[in-house]
Amino acid sequence: MPSGTCIRIFPTPDGVVQHAARTLRDACSAHRERRVCIALSGGSTPARLYRFLAEDFRREIPWERLEVFFGDERCVPPEHPDSNYRLAHVELLSRVPIPEAQVHRMPADAADPAAGVDDYEDLIARLVPTGPLGEPSFDIVWLGLGEDGHTASLFPGTAALDVGDRLVAFNEVPQLDARRMTFTYPLLNAGAVVQFLVLGGQKAPVVTRILGPTARKSGADLAPAARVRPAYGRVEWLLDREASAGITEQGLLA
Ligand code: 6PG
Repeated sequence: MPSGTCIRIFPTPDGVVQHAARTLRDACSAHRERRVCIALSGGSTPARLYRFLAEDFRREIPWERLEVFFGDERCVPPEHPDSNYRLAHVELLSRVPIPEAQVHRMPADAADPAAGVDDYEDLIARLVPTGPLGEPSFDIVWLGLGEDGHTASLFPGTAALDVGDRLVAFNEVPQLDARRMTFTYPLLNAGAVVQFLVLGGQKAPVVTRILGPTARKSGADLAPAARVRPAYGRVEWLLDREASAGITEQGLLA
């Protein structure tokens, strides 16, 4: 397993969610002198985390000290059922006292996509502290994992996988017949803590493919999620028992 990568297996999804929430609390405690910058994941998995944060962990987080961004977004307006922003707004951001000006929706539905990318990059560069690589370094990046090995909107065989000179990019995703806006590897890999939240048995095969022994064979086909390897930060794979069915916390076959 690459250095800086850690696998944590929890008996239930609640364990995954509680660990992620504690990571946010600890980041806020460690950086009392400044705002804490986080990037929220897309998909459906984070809903459980958002509800826990809003209902059980609300008093643990200094919400007024967060700057909240999104790691990817669909090309839909904020009120659309498919919007990653909408899920976060409904389940969390509308339920905690975070100033609206500190929630930064990714403008994937911008009329001028290139300008939308530029604007989001400029915002990140202005608000997120610079890390050792000279790139903006998020304190926490939460990510999900698709069954095809994608993360954020970095899908297998798509152009954004090869973007090395931008922090954010638009990405044509033929397998979805859709366009997305997404963080790129330079931005993901500048993160201080990157946590994959992966739940459910349907993810076990791709988890084993990415974290199991075969992943380390030379020439192994790296899934997009496997290329998230912060140079100075750490990656934590937070798995429930079902998603980890094929492996151990040492990355061995179970
Ligand atoms: C998106 C996400 C995507 C997601 C995975 C897992 O916008 O769809 O960023 O990368 O995290 O597809 O999705 P689920 O959590 O719904 O399984």
